[in-house]
Amino acid sequence: MATNITFHEGIVSYEERCSLLGQQGATIWLTGLSASGKSTIATALEQHLLHQHKSAFRLDGDNIRFGLNKDLGFSPKDREENIRRIAEVSTLFSASSSLTITSFISPYAADRDVARKLHDEHKPPLPFIEVFVDASVEECEKRDPKGLYKKARAGEIKEFTGISAPYEAPPKPEIHIDADKTSVEDSVKIITQYLLEKGYLK
Ligand code: PPS
Repeated sequence: MATNITFHEGIVSYEERCSLLGQQGATIWLTGLSASGKSTIATALEQHLLHQHKSAFRLDGDNIRFGLNKDLGFSPKDREENIRRIAEVSTLFSASSSLTITSFISPYAADRDVARKLHDEHKPPLPFIEVFVDASVEECEKRDPKGLYKKARAGEIKEFTGISAPYEAPPKPEIHIDADKTSVEDSVKIITQYLLEKGYLK
């Protein structure tokens, strides 16, 4: 950690920012296997919120690995660092009063807990909504839109989540979507209904 650094507070508080912009921030953290539908739900949710004139922004696993996290692979250590950075970035976006939608496999419970803790410890705390996009490995493998499961079975991709690397399902997510049976449209409705009920969306 760097030394001789000082945190500078802004003049506008988070509360004043939310009041001026007419919305509050929250992180909607989608987690699930590759091909479970995280990115599809995230893009549809982002579109839905933007069409309601809300500031919403998506951080997506594949996309972020082209830039910010291009130095990271898929070892447990690299995935930990991937999620740590996204936890920091999503906290910043939420603190800017944006509805922040993240879609990362985020397979390790401890790494997701780090992200939750960062939001909880922000002053004031920022909502962290864990959404488990729950699709079975069998279903994801049947879909296999990028042909990654096929490659993983053939041993061409090492440490592939669900095949040769673990996925730790969230025991108590705020929202649990049965992705084998729920349409994208209904998934968006479930999430927006939750946001409305909690008062995160007006
Ligand atoms: S993680 O586990 O949260 O750090 O992964 P994430 O940043 O979300 O990146 C997942 C996408 O990377 C592609 N990919 C792999 N996924 C899992 N395991 C391995 N070994 C792997 N190699 C490449 C894959 O396209 C994932 O995208 P999604 O959208 O989840 O299918």
